[in-house]
Amino acid sequence: IATAIAIGAMALSAPAAMAQCDDGEMVIKFSHVVAASGHPKGDAATLFAERVNKEMNGIACMEVFPNSTLFDDDKVMEALLLGDVQLAAPSLAKFEAYTLKYRLFDLPFLFADLDSVSRFFDTPEAKDLLLATQDVGYTGLGYWSSGLKQFSANKPLLLPSDGAGLKFRIQTSDVAEAMINAMGGSAQKLAFSEVYGALQTKVVDGQENSWSNIYTQKFFEVQDGITETNHQLLAYLLVTSTEWLDGLDPAVRDQFLKIAQEVTVTANASVAEQEARNRQNILDAGGTIRELTPEQRQAWVDAMKPVWTQFEDDIGADNIAAAVAANT
Ligand code: LMR
Repeated sequence: IATAIAIGAMALSAPAAMAQCDDGEMVIKFSHVVAASGHPKGDAATLFAERVNKEMNGIACMEVFPNSTLFDDDKVMEALLLGDVQLAAPSLAKFEAYTLKYRLFDLPFLFADLDSVSRFFDTPEAKDLLLATQDVGYTGLGYWSSGLKQFSANKPLLLPSDGAGLKFRIQTSDVAEAMINAMGGSAQKLAFSEVYGALQTKVVDGQENSWSNIYTQKFFEVQDGITETNHQLLAYLLVTSTEWLDGLDPAVRDQFLKIAQEVTVTANASVAEQEARNRQNILDAGGTIRELTPEQRQAWVDAMKPVWTQFEDDIGADNIAAAVAANT
C-alpha cells in the first residue's frame, strides 16, 4: 500500500516530462525538490528530459520527479550512489558532507549579480570545482544558477539587527549559520519541503531564498514581507554518479553529456528573467517587498562579510579571488 500511495503521489505531481519509457530504453531518473515549472531548476529539468526523450528515443528515457516527491536533497545524494536515481541538482550549499570547497558559493555578498556568477562559472577555478566531489563518487556536470537570495521574516527587516533574536531556516550550510549568527539571530537547518510549514506554525521566524522559491513555495504568504538583500547566491550542481556515467556506452555518454551541456547554457541564460518575473509575481499576489537604501544595504554587508575569513582555509584563497574577480 505504501508503494501504491507513493506512486499515486508521484502521478499527481508528474510534470509533462514524465515519459512513458519503452522496453529496452535506459531509464534516467532525475529527482529534485522545487516546483515542476515556473522555476529555473524545474524548467531546466523539464527541458533536459524533453531533449533526451526526443533525441535519445529508443536509447534512453528521462523521468523527472520534482517537489521532493521522490527524495529530499540529503537522501538524493545516497540514492545516486545506490543507483536509485541518476541525476540530481541540489544547491551547492548542501554539499558540506562531500566537500568544503563549495562553501565558496555561500559567502555572503560574494557576487554582485547573475552576470558575475555566469562569468565565474566559465573560469578554470569553477571548472575544477565541478569535480570536487569526484573522490566520493560524484561527477558535477554543470552549474545551474538560480538567482540571488532575499531575506524574509514575520516582522520587517531593514537592518541586519532587525533579525536579532529571530530564528531563520537555513539550508545545511555552516556559512549560512555563521551569517545568521552575525545578525544576532539563530539558524535552524531544515529540508526545503518543511519550510512552508515551519514558517506557518512559527517554528521559525524567517528564511532566505531566491525569488523563484519564495514565490513558487508561497513563503511570502506566511511572512510579513521580503527584504531585497541579494545577499547570497542560490545555485545548483547538476550531479550524477561517476560509476553510472563511466558505465555508459561511450557514444551514448557523449550524446547525453552534450545535451546536458546545452541545457545548462540555455537554462542559465534565462535565470535573471525568470527571477524578475517571480519577484513581480509576488507583488501581483499581494506580497510585500522592501528595498534597501544604499546605507541600509551597507549595514548588511558590514555585518555579514566578516564571516568570509572563517571559511577561507576550507575554500582556498585562489577560489575566492577568482570569484571576486568575476565581479568586474
Ligand atoms: C533550499 O533548500 O532552500 C533550496 O536549496 C531549494 C532549491 O533547490 O532551490
